[in-house]
Amino acid sequence: MFEKLAAQAPDSLLALIGAFRDDPRPEKIDLGVGVYRDAEGRTPVFAAVKAAERRLLETQDSKAYLGPEGNRAFARAVAPVVLGPLAGDERILGVQTPGGTGALRLAAELIAAADRKARVWLGTPSWPNHAPLMKAAGLAIKTYRHLDPATQSICFDEMIAALESAAPGDVVLLHGCCHNPTGADLSPAQWDQVAELLAARKLVPLLDLAYQGLGNGLEEDAAGLRQVLDKVDEALIAYSCDKNFGLYRERVGMLFVRGRSGAEARIAFSNVLTLARTNWSMPPDHGAAAVALILEDDALRADWRRELDAMRARIASVRAELAAADPAFAALGRQKGMFSMLPLSKETIDRLRKEQAIYMAGSGRISVCGLTPGNLPRFVEMVRAALAAEGRP
Ligand SMILES: Cc1ncc(COP(=O)(O)O)c(C=O)c1O
Repeated sequence: MFEKLAAQAPDSLLALIGAFRDDPRPEKIDLGVGVYRDAEGRTPVFAAVKAAERRLLETQDSKAYLGPEGNRAFARAVAPVVLGPLAGDERILGVQTPGGTGALRLAAELIAAADRKARVWLGTPSWPNHAPLMKAAGLAIKTYRHLDPATQSICFDEMIAALESAAPGDVVLLHGCCHNPTGADLSPAQWDQVAELLAARKLVPLLDLAYQGLGNGLEEDAAGLRQVLDKVDEALIAYSCDKNFGLYRERVGMLFVRGRSGAEARIAFSNVLTLARTNWSMPPDHGAAAVALILEDDALRADWRRELDAMRARIASVRAELAAADPAFAALGRQKGMFSMLPLSKETIDRLRKEQAIYMAGSGRISVCGLTPGNLPRFVEMVRAALAAEGRP
C-alpha cells in the first residue's frame, strides 16, 4: 500500500531550524524561528503559567475524559478576552481545540460540511499552513494580494476588488492582528470597509486571531474582529493561546461559531462537536486548564498581562530600532507582531545564510524577536549591504 505514496518535501522552516542548530559560527542569527524570544534569545515559560501549573498539580483530582467541547472553564474565561462585550451572545458558541491550527481545521471541515462549493479567499502571502488546511477539507482557494513586498504596503484596492467578485456564501480568511508573515495589519477604517463589504455581499469571515496582545494591546488587537462581528450575521473565529500565553507545545486554541440566531448557532455547534469527535475526540486539557486558572485569578491574570505587555514592548522596541537604523526598514517600524518580510531575492537570502550566518525563511520572512541588542547592528549592516548589492536604495 505505502508504495503508492509520493514522498513529501520536509517543511522548509524545520530544515532551516536544523541548519541553524548545526551551524558552529558563534555570530549566527536566527530569524526563522516562529516563537517569541526575549533579549537573551530565550522562549521562557510565563511565571503565571508556572504558578497555574503548580496549582493544577496540587488540586487536580482527576484526568477523566472531558468531552469534545474540551475544558468549559477555559471556554468561559477566554470568550470575553476575544469577544469583549459580545461574549455571552447566544449566537456565538465556542469549543476548545488543539491550538489555532485545530480551530482552523475544524472551521474548514464545518464550512465543507455546510457548503462544499464555498470558496475560501486568502490574501497572499499568508501563513503557509492556511491554504493546505483549507484544501485538506476539500475547499477551493481563491487568492488576492495582501501586501506588495517591494513597497511594503497593503494592496487594499486589490483586496476590495477580490471581495467584490466573491460569491455570496464564500469565506474570507482574515488575520485578526499581527499578520503572519507580513506584519501589515488593516487600519480601523479599512476593517470598517471590509466589514461593510462582507455584510453587503453575504460573505462569511473566518477570523484567525493567533497573536492577540502582541500588536497594539489585548483589546486593540481584537478591535478589527469585533468590528466585523458587529456587521455580519455569520462568522468563524479561530483563536490561539499558544503565543500570548507562551504555551505553544501544549496546543491551546478555540473555535467560535457565530450563527444568524441562537438556534442556528446551536446547530452549527453540534456539527462542530461531531467533527471534533472524528478528529481528536477531545482536545488536550493541560494548557487550557492553566489558561482558565490564570484568567479566573486576579493576581495570576495581572502577572500574565505584565508578561504579555513586556513581550509586546520588546517587539515594538526592536521594530523601532530597525526603523531608526535605516530608511530601508521604515515599514517594519509601522508593522506589528513577530513577523515582517524583507524584499530580498532568494539568492541574497541564501548568501546571507552562507556568508554571514543570518538565517531567514526563503520567503524573506523574518522573526523580529530573533534580533537582540547584541546582533541587531550587524544584521542592519549586512542587510543594508545586500539591498545595495541588489541595486535598491
Ligand atoms: C496566523 C496563524 N494562525 C494560526 C496559527 C496556529 O497556531 P497554533 O500554534 O496555536 O496552532 C499560527 C501559528 O504560527 C499563525 O501564525
